[in-house]
Amino acid sequence: MSMTITIFINGEACQMEPGITVAAALLTQADIFVLRHTAKRKEPRGIFCGMGVCHDCVVNIDGRDNVRSCMTEVTVGMRISTS
Ligand code: FES
Repeated sequence: MSMTITIFINGEACQMEPGITVAAALLTQADIFVLRHTAKRKEPRGIFCGMGVCHDCVVNIDGRDNVRSCMTEVTVGMRISTS
């Protein structure tokens, strides 16, 4: 039996395996590939490097903007917002 935790993605409750990154949760569990849009041109951005270098994967987590989703593990009750 696997344990799951509840997180909230854009206000919707989702069950996740603990220990995965927010990026993995968004891609594999919520089918969200566009995480933000650029400020000037409004171009879509998503996971690119997957190792904390490019900052294309930033999202809002628990009210904090610009958190790298590929470097952050999901935690119980976490609230994630994509733009
Ligand atoms: S995907 Fe590049 S920093 Fe997260």
